[in-house]
Amino acid sequence: MSDSTPAQHLADLLERLKAADIAYYRHDRPIISDAEYDKLRREAEALRQRFPELRAQALDTIGTPPSGTFRKIHHLQPMLSLDNVFTPEDFVEFCTRIRRFLQLGGSDLRFVAEPKIDGLSISLTYENGRFARGATRGDGTEGEDVTANLLTIAALPRALPKGAPDLIEIRGEVYMTKSDFLTLNARQEKKFANPRNAAAGSLRQLNPDVTASRKLSLFAYARGACSASIAKTHWDYLGILKEWGFPVNPLAERLSEPEAAEFQARIAERRAKLSYDIDGVVYKIDDVSLQDRLGFVGRAPRWAVAWKFPAEHAVTRLRQIEIQVGRTGALTPRAILDPVNVGGVLVQHATLHNEDEIRRKDIRIGDMVELQRAGDVIPQIVRVLPKFRQADATPFLFPQHCPVCGSLAIRPHGEVVRRCTGGLSCPAQVVERLIHLCGRSAFDIDGMGEKTIRLFHALEWLQNAIDIFRLPLREREIASLDGWGDVSARKLVAAINGRRTIALGRFIFALGIRRIGEANAKLLARHYVRYSDWRRDMARAIVTGSDARVELDSISGIGPSIAEELVGFFAEPHNTWLLDQLQREVTIEDEKLGETGSELAGKTVVFTGALATMTRPEAKARAESLGAKVTESVSKKTDYVVIGHDAGSKAARAAALGIAVLTEAEFRSMAAVD
Ligand code: IVH
Repeated sequence: MSDSTPAQHLADLLERLKAADIAYYRHDRPIISDAEYDKLRREAEALRQRFPELRAQALDTIGTPPSGTFRKIHHLQPMLSLDNVFTPEDFVEFCTRIRRFLQLGGSDLRFVAEPKIDGLSISLTYENGRFARGATRGDGTEGEDVTANLLTIAALPRALPKGAPDLIEIRGEVYMTKSDFLTLNARQEKKFANPRNAAAGSLRQLNPDVTASRKLSLFAYARGACSASIAKTHWDYLGILKEWGFPVNPLAERLSEPEAAEFQARIAERRAKLSYDIDGVVYKIDDVSLQDRLGFVGRAPRWAVAWKFPAEHAVTRLRQIEIQVGRTGALTPRAILDPVNVGGVLVQHATLHNEDEIRRKDIRIGDMVELQRAGDVIPQIVRVLPKFRQADATPFLFPQHCPVCGSLAIRPHGEVVRRCTGGLSCPAQVVERLIHLCGRSAFDIDGMGEKTIRLFHALEWLQNAIDIFRLPLREREIASLDGWGDVSARKLVAAINGRRTIALGRFIFALGIRRIGEANAKLLARHYVRYSDWRRDMARAIVTGSDARVELDSISGIGPSIAEELVGFFAEPHNTWLLDQLQREVTIEDEKLGETGSELAGKTVVFTGALATMTRPEAKARAESLGAKVTESVSKKTDYVVIGHDAGSKAARAAALGIAVLTEAEFRSMAAVD
């Protein structure tokens, strides 16, 4: 090496670093030690410092492995998340909602309370008594097959005792203890930010030997699908899991509603001394039959809630205010901060919401600010510390033009958000829409992440949604890009082609229409079922007072402002052109409606009058879970009107239109409510 030129020497070092990166990230088989890697990097850096002309030779890293390298597993029952509460008042409100839903009057609710483990959720499937496979949560419907890695966890039972159901999904949390995290980070060149990231990174290793070298732990805590019912209460269920050999959190307790606040305080006090990270307590209704009656709303059960610990605070300096332009043109200010540790997480940015918020809190560049971070939410600025303000600090002037395309940014009267008027001529909006379109809850195209989209957009390969599906025509160009190659290009093309079929709900969401989030897209898809019907009706709904508009307005959960956005989208010729083009590239599947075989699947139902044995929300949720559409008003399209006590004009209208009328008892038997 001594007789080589500095340039050759650096090239050689970079080559060795790159090979080490590929071995580490792509193949999870490190070929050199962390210390050696460090040494090479330092050496390369020193050369670049000494010989400025060599600086163009970048120390580029390979980055984390692309996702999609694990087999996908479809969860037999979706894996949900939990709604959060932060105060005793929120918790009381949660209990009140449950009582109202179940019409329980003033009676006390019984819960099981368990620490909320800060790890990653996992679904373990046992078939005929043997551990068959395990998967991460993924998007809740489909996760990644991490069976081999889970088998490195000693505490995971490989088999269940005789008498266990033939098929059972057991849910729990994989986590890393605080001390295992510190040990791991001590020997890692690239440090993990916290135990949760370390656990996630370790479980998603392609090589199980690497996972085995990083100690992971497990708690089991929830039911998934099961071929037989095994317990009447959640408490008994936890007892059975324990008997079967699963680690169950020893701090779990059965308690009544008024005891919750005290339990919360007790766990908060023990938090720092626990050997693992927790971020709150989960309260679950103990009675399984009540859990079943309560069911789910959106992605969270009605029968459980996460009561999070209060936010953590810190003080730091605000360096800059940056304006981001979103998918719908919204200009959102973001604070760039001096990095600061808030409750174990390094924070460098905070949301500033909108221009009024900056004015209200009188936030100026250079100010010292107090931050808070609660749970997973983006850190917020609580207040400015005025005594540290520099004399020359001036109020922040919110831009009147889009910082990306320069178009005028306007703020309609009565709204808080200022929006860029550039529309699709604004590159920021185009890119954000494409990121949204390829995202997990939309087309879910592996490999089309933010970085790739930005790159392809900069190359002028991507202008709109259709261009995504035309990328396969550029396979060779993609392969020739720096850092790509044949394999990556082929993979990307396969990922795009693999997503040319999409369910209606995802498709509607993917369009990125303002106010049409996942839940609203799903509501629309369930209502219209077929793409062609939705498309036809949306075009007709542009006319106020038309049947289609009345129908749109009557969908439970779709308010006038949402209908307005939809109609606005369809009134824009560019959007309808885009839909026509997209239809050539993708197949939009009918929305699958609820459980199969129910008489209510695909039917439109209206409830009227008071029901005696169940509440209206309960009846509605039940009907929807069976695949029915529930609307507010009776029309020609209504299939059933369920008549409760004191039913008024809707019953009369049903009779006039010759629509089938059901009594509450008939509805119960159709909906198989015992
Ligand atoms: S129960 C249907 N219990 O919290 C309810 N979740 O924010 C399923 N979590 O995705 C969840 N500790 O990863 C439950 N004792 C516990 C938990 C727990 C941690 C996580 C879980 C879930 C997330 C929801």
